[in-house]
Amino acid sequence: MTRVLITGGAGFIGSHYAHHALQAHPGWQVTVLDKLTYAGNPANLQDLEGNPRYRFVRGDIASRQDVERAIAGGVDIIFNFAAETHVDRSIGDPEGFIRTDVYGTYTLLEAARARGVEAFVQISTDEVYGSIARGRSLETDALMPTNPYSASKAAADRLAYSYFATYNLPVFISRASNNYGPNQYPEKVIPLFVTNALEDKPLPLYGDGQNVRDWLYVTDHCEAIDVMLERGTPGEVYNIGGGNERRNLEITEQILDRLGKPRTLLRYVQDRPGHDRRYALDCSRIGTLGWRPRVPFEKGLEETIAWYAANRAWWEPIKTGEYLEYYRKQYRI
Ligand code: NAD
Ligand code: TYD
Repeated sequence: MTRVLITGGAGFIGSHYAHHALQAHPGWQVTVLDKLTYAGNPANLQDLEGNPRYRFVRGDIASRQDVERAIAGGVDIIFNFAAETHVDRSIGDPEGFIRTDVYGTYTLLEAARARGVEAFVQISTDEVYGSIARGRSLETDALMPTNPYSASKAAADRLAYSYFATYNLPVFISRASNNYGPNQYPEKVIPLFVTNALEDKPLPLYGDGQNVRDWLYVTDHCEAIDVMLERGTPGEVYNIGGGNERRNLEITEQILDRLGKPRTLLRYVQDRPGHDRRYALDCSRIGTLGWRPRVPFEKGLEETIAWYAANRAWWEPIKTGEYLEYYRKQYRI
């Protein structure tokens, strides 16, 4: 049995990866370590309860004791998905981002070094490159993060690399583009706009709506992580993009049209400070390992919308309490 630790496994991508890992790797024993912050949701993992190859540990990656508790029985591979992840929240209150994304990664790297793991997979992001007006970011490009979230992720990305260069820890670093799909917390633009539209509430589009993101369906991301780990080279960085560049306005209109809602629900609101105009990735490196995204954007969006329409019981309880407080402060409504 290979003993695998998945941090942040109660969140959006981590929970998809936990399911994928148990299904695709019958020889893996999976421990999820998650603090269950506002973004962590036990419902994302509920169906795994009772699986003898799965266990859940509630704890903080920035706490040595919690990490030790999670890996007490030994660990072979660590996947670090745990992070504070929302750019807008990082602008309002950066401290938690430094603590979890930077110090938490350091704590895990130290545990990995002490144990001599087979692999440490750091889930980084395309946002570390900052905005790119033309062309596509290469793994060798300079990092120019512009907000506390992306800066914290860039720090973690390079810290992980330093453990490869300095201590020979087999580190793999993925830089994925914007993920979308079921189970994404409804503060990120696609689930926010889909659930608002379902509730006939306004869709708050930042600035002129012309910012571009490259959309990656979450299951394509999970498959790419495996390809990177199985066929990649330790110490390397791998861009993972969906090849679906879209302007935010276009996505907003598609969501409204697909749900049969009026375009009048679109509400232009004040732009995000330091809002990166465009992200785009050159994915030739992971392409040479044989990975290609499989889910076309229109199909993925259709499935995502259908999931939120069918799973109100998942998101309606989220859009209360702390969420509403955040929402009112963020959007001043
Ligand atoms: P998410 O916000 O949905 O989930 C984050 C999870 O981490 C939650 O379950 C939360 O409880 C947990 N967590 C937070 N702080 C923790 C701590 N101190 N200790 C233990 N657990 C903690 O995030 P996501 O969208 O699933 O992103 C997962 C990873 O992928 C992150 O590292 C993120 O930077 C990266 N990433 C995300 C995207 C995207 O589009 N969502 C794109 C590229 C990379
Ligand atoms: P988001 O989902 O927050 O991801 P990221 O900032 O990590 O790319 O935002 C995606 C795009 O959507 C980004 O250009 C900002 C924009 N956006 C809005 O226009 N309105 C919103 O309410 C949100 C949350 C995002």
